[in-house]
Amino acid sequence: VAQHHPHIQEVLLPKQAIEARVNELGRQIAADYADKRPVVIGTLKGAVVFMADLVRAMEPPPPGLELEFVRASSYGAATVSSGKVDLSMVGPTDIKGRHVLLVEDIVDSGCTAVALLEHFATAGAASVKLVSLLSKPERRTVTCEPHYLGFPVEDKFVVGYGLDYAEQYRSLPYIGVLKPECYA
Ligand code: PRP
Ligand code: MN
Ligand code: MG
Repeated sequence: VAQHHPHIQEVLLPKQAIEARVNELGRQIAADYADKRPVVIGTLKGAVVFMADLVRAMEPPPPGLELEFVRASSYGAATVSSGKVDLSMVGPTDIKGRHVLLVEDIVDSGCTAVALLEHFATAGAASVKLVSLLSKPERRTVTCEPHYLGFPVEDKFVVGYGLDYAEQYRSLPYIGVLKPECYA
């Protein structure tokens, strides 16, 4: 049995389960975007790990696919979203008329994803869709349903595979539940 990080009380999604689901999503998205020259936009920092695996799972690779990033932050070191989302684009990308696929690691309250989807729609994107690895439907404060979803998860504090608590644990290759004493 593989050892996991001492701050993790339970591995919710092992590496292999994530890989299998990401590969399915990649193939589905590749088919849907085959003729759309998509701009895949990842939300820093949490979505970086998922995005790296997802784009490489897009088979066959959609012609014209580009990668971009946006910085969105609402949590800081808290475990609950402040509801106020700070956005900043990384680079001067013109997304007018482009098919945007927003990549998130998790949709929790929904505030971050909704703010970003609205931002790209207002900027004149031809279409805007959301792919999220995880979703906590019970925690929504705004309506938000990812167009593509890896896994729905219960309302437990999860970290790993890009998700942090106070900037820690992002590099773990699985999704795990953080021991309560580690965020008390
Ligand atoms: C986290 C997560 C999502 C967002 C989801 O980002 O990566 O982007 O919160 O929460 P919401 O649905 O309640 O808005 P965070 O603000 O912690 O920044 P990070 O990606 O740099 O960790
Ligand atoms: Mn994030
Ligand atoms: Mg965070």
